Amino acid sequence: MAVLPIVRFPHPVLKEKAKPVQKIDDSIRRLVEDMAETMYAAPGVGLAANQVGVPLRLAVIDVTPANEPKNLMVLINPEILSAEGECTWDEGCLSVPDCNEEVKRNQKVLVRFLNLDGEMMEKGAEGLLAVALQHEIDHLNGILFIDRIGPLKRRLIKKKLRKKENEESRD
Ligand code: NI
Repeated sequence: MAVLPIVRFPHPVLKEKAKPVQKIDDSIRRLVEDMAETMYAAPGVGLAANQVGVPLRLAVIDVTPANEPKNLMVLINPEILSAEGECTWDEGCLSVPDCNEEVKRNQKVLVRFLNLDGEMMEKGAEGLLAVALQHEIDHLNGILFIDRIGPLKRRLIKKKLRKKENEESRD
């Protein structure tokens, strides 16, 4: 297992629509292990494959509090079947470091995905898990949470991140 480097905005892979996983083989299983380790090390509650530079429809999520046993959810080719209600959540993203903004989301979702054994699963979720599912599935469609906030706030965040990137590349 390995902690992988996390790709940050404005890397173009974050804007890409990820491709479906065709076959769950050893390379996918290894990628899932590494993504889980990377997410826990960050720490974060979710990570999509394109955040580690792999444009495949694959994500890991674990919303359990740090003092409780881990409960890793592996989502292969996930899709939202239905969504209802509204909520506003203060979101951040490992690819958009040190930025949090309130995002409007659905309160409840029903998702369908394959697990690591290739079994078709359906799961209903609400609250934080519902938000995490929407956030990660957005990633797989090339959408960041900052694409879902007001244009003024988005401009400020993008400016801040580009400035940070320039500073880091000068070091
Ligand atoms: Ni994210």
